[in-house]
Amino acid sequence: MGNEFVCCGFLFLLFVTLAPGNVAASHTEDDSVGLRQLPNQKQDIHSSSHMGMGMSFGMSEDDLTNPGAKVFATIKHIEVGNKMPIYFPYIHDPTTFQFLPELKTQHIPLSSDLLPELLQFFSFSLDSHQALAMEQTLKICEMEAPKGEVQGCFTSVESLVDFAQGIFGPGSQVGVVRSSLISKSTPLLQNYTVVESKEVSTGKLIACHNEPYPYAVYYCHFQLGSVNKVFLVSLTGDNGDKVDAAFLCHMDTSTWSAGHIGFRLLGLKPGESEVCHFFPAYDMVVIP
Ligand SMILES: *[C@@H]1O[C@H](CO)[C@@H](O)[C@H](O)[C@H]1NC(C)=O
Repeated sequence: MGNEFVCCGFLFLLFVTLAPGNVAASHTEDDSVGLRQLPNQKQDIHSSSHMGMGMSFGMSEDDLTNPGAKVFATIKHIEVGNKMPIYFPYIHDPTTFQFLPELKTQHIPLSSDLLPELLQFFSFSLDSHQALAMEQTLKICEMEAPKGEVQGCFTSVESLVDFAQGIFGPGSQVGVVRSSLISKSTPLLQNYTVVESKEVSTGKLIACHNEPYPYAVYYCHFQLGSVNKVFLVSLTGDNGDKVDAAFLCHMDTSTWSAGHIGFRLLGLKPGESEVCHFFPAYDMVVIP
């Protein structure tokens, strides 16, 4: 009961503070599905986002044949001149992956308990695919961090920088590495030739995955004590498309499960080699 009271009092505040020229208002201008396009297929929701970090998002045999899984490689694969099939998603509207100003979202809670109210706020019906996507995102945001990981969901640059500075040290500069956009929607899976690769960071890093939500929500996580390297890899696709891709390598895979999709796709065993993956343009790697 107490909770309900808090929630409704709060939502009232939400409607008031967000009234004109803000999140609530802007979704009337966008007649598609609210503030931004939410994926309407299961495959879109988590094509490759979470696969790289040794997380267990119910990987099944199907995932091996999912083109979206063609993002794994090792450092030897990014030697100049090497050619390999890689999947990069096509992003229709890149602005939807940008954080909104903090003022517009700071009063909107990310809370499963408030899902019915949030759906009402964004005008999505309970059984819509948007509702399902929001529910899944909130679940991810509320998950308990695996042992040795620090994680959180972020809806603004400011909150993400605070989180990063908590890890990198107070006052540290925070940088972002992300893949450039592909220019054509077909083919999403094609062979790319490595034109250049350079290591941009080694040491502490935070991986951030964009989650389907009516505005930009990033699930970010940091693994304590893990050794990672980030590369920027310039690629040319068979269709001529050029991509500068963020490529993240987990150098120590000895504690990963042998069934990890990265091992299965690359034919490797835990600890045998680093496992790396290309990042889609809507995700990012945060580095000091
Ligand atoms: C990539 O190239 C290889 C070797 O030339 C070829 O067998 C394969 O079908 C190509 N894959 C794609 C997705 O084009």
